[in-house]
Amino acid sequence: MTPFAKMSSAEIRKRFLAFFEKRGHAVIPSASLVPVNDPTVLFNTAGMQPLVPFLMGAKHPQGDKIVDVQKCVRTTDIDDIGDKTHATFFEMLGNWSLGSYFKEEAIAWSYDFLTSKSEGLGLDPNRLYVTVYIGDERVARDEESVAIWQKAGIPKNRIFYKGADANWWPSVKGKDTWTGPTGPSTEMFYDIKGDVGDLNGIEDFDRVDSEQRIVEIWNDVFMEYEKKEGEIVGKLKQKNVDTGAGLERIAMLMQGTNNIFETDLFLPLIQKIQSLVTTDGKKDERAERIIADHIRTSVFMIADGVLPSNTDRGYILRRLIRRAVRFADTLGFASGDILKIAETVPEIYDGAYENIPAQIDHIKNTLSEEEQKFRKTLTSGLKEFSRLAAAGEITGKDAFTLLSSFGFPIDLTMEIAKEQGIKIDLASFEEESKKHQALSRSGAEQKFKGGLADTSEMSLKYHTATHLLNAALKKVLGPHVEQKGSNITPERLRFDFAHPEKMTDEQKKQVEDIVNEKIQANLPVIFQEMPLTKAREIGATGVFGEKYADVVKVYSMGTENNYFSQEICGGPHVTNTGTLGHFKIAKEEAVSAGVRRIKAVLT
Ligand code: ALA
Repeated sequence: MTPFAKMSSAEIRKRFLAFFEKRGHAVIPSASLVPVNDPTVLFNTAGMQPLVPFLMGAKHPQGDKIVDVQKCVRTTDIDDIGDKTHATFFEMLGNWSLGSYFKEEAIAWSYDFLTSKSEGLGLDPNRLYVTVYIGDERVARDEESVAIWQKAGIPKNRIFYKGADANWWPSVKGKDTWTGPTGPSTEMFYDIKGDVGDLNGIEDFDRVDSEQRIVEIWNDVFMEYEKKEGEIVGKLKQKNVDTGAGLERIAMLMQGTNNIFETDLFLPLIQKIQSLVTTDGKKDERAERIIADHIRTSVFMIADGVLPSNTDRGYILRRLIRRAVRFADTLGFASGDILKIAETVPEIYDGAYENIPAQIDHIKNTLSEEEQKFRKTLTSGLKEFSRLAAAGEITGKDAFTLLSSFGFPIDLTMEIAKEQGIKIDLASFEEESKKHQALSRSGAEQKFKGGLADTSEMSLKYHTATHLLNAALKKVLGPHVEQKGSNITPERLRFDFAHPEKMTDEQKKQVEDIVNEKIQANLPVIFQEMPLTKAREIGATGVFGEKYADVVKVYSMGTENNYFSQEICGGPHVTNTGTLGHFKIAKEEAVSAGVRRIKAVLT
């Protein structure tokens, strides 16, 4: 055990930020889990995602050296949850060079932070191993990094060469479709128990890695290339460094545990779960871990504005909540007990993410509503499952019925099938759901064809009013308000948006007042064309799921540097808000779970 065996996760975060701040980096807060105007990913899966425009060369307002702790979600490894090191939500510590320093400083600082007792983690240098990129026909073997590591103090026999599946970011496994900044990486590993010693070549390294005797703790990516659809198309304007260290894993090392669930980031959740178990008999560690993981992730997602639904992000959240509920049932939890686990989350983060305590009621209401919705069909769905399974196999159609009529996400059906040793025809399920998706997509397109019925003067006014309404709703209700559709005629506007509950009269009044205030302020409506990356950078609102071109139109309302509304939008609009007249909400109603509709008129 090192003298720092019990370093808390809060202390690790603090030390990381302070270490790099002292070395000229500006500390920035985590971006939301929900990417801003990036329809290519549902959640930020790495610290680099919200920074892509700056890695591509846009100027970051805080300078060219940045440090942060970014919230991330990865659900691709969902089946691994329950083992020692996987979590669907995690925090990534990262230091960034946006065209400033490169390999020399990045590696030296990584080494210093890992090993310094006074400023860093105080890890034992004799337990560190590193990997570097092996090279290919376009990019040379990374001998430069090897030399820098040796200078820092890592002997040559602890440095290993690996291919693009391990030492390239984004990693290349199967077909590469990445478009954006990219480059080779060097990864750091730590010997968990301190019993590995010298290794005899790459096979030996791979063996101790697969035995989980060493754990990957940090990745430094040297981003100097650009890819389009997986192909390197050239060098970037600038050389960048993108690093990522998983807080949960580092906490595991610093707190002397052999899994992330015994660290201070998870233990209070596990203890709460254990206090709620009512089944006797064998302890189900995997179920405990799955519930802890899924509820924690759901809390972070809801705090960042996601609501359960049947599509995209909302579907991922729905799956996590429903899976947690089912595992909670296997441990004999009472209905509503998952809310007690959710309540534990803000205690763990103690001020690190203020939107969680601030929205805890909304978070609990959302979880509770989703649990109740699921419970309504859970028992009958399980019965239906048994009935269908009696035929020996769950067909694609069966799995689809379980989804559409009983709210069983496919991974839940798969899991029950696996537990009961029943085969399930996944390929035909995929076909079935594709057919259904195609149907509902064409329905949606018809409903919201371009949004505007015509381009009459009155329709343009309503269109401009819709942008003001969108921005006002976000102000009054919160950032989770996301446009779900709009429909405009010369007589009225209709606007659908994500929000879990009926608006109060007071809220409607506030929204009307804000819109009318912006109308009276005679704000100019400014039209610009710009690269999508730039539109994202300035924070222009987009419609999620919309496929945008490389160059987009942005409508801004207000004065420069003080815009009330900025949206990616094809137009057309009036040129000044002053012409709109008086804005009034005629009706506010539910369209479907979690989606509200406003009809409004200009008089
Ligand atoms: N972007 C790199 C990663 O996520 C640092 O591993």
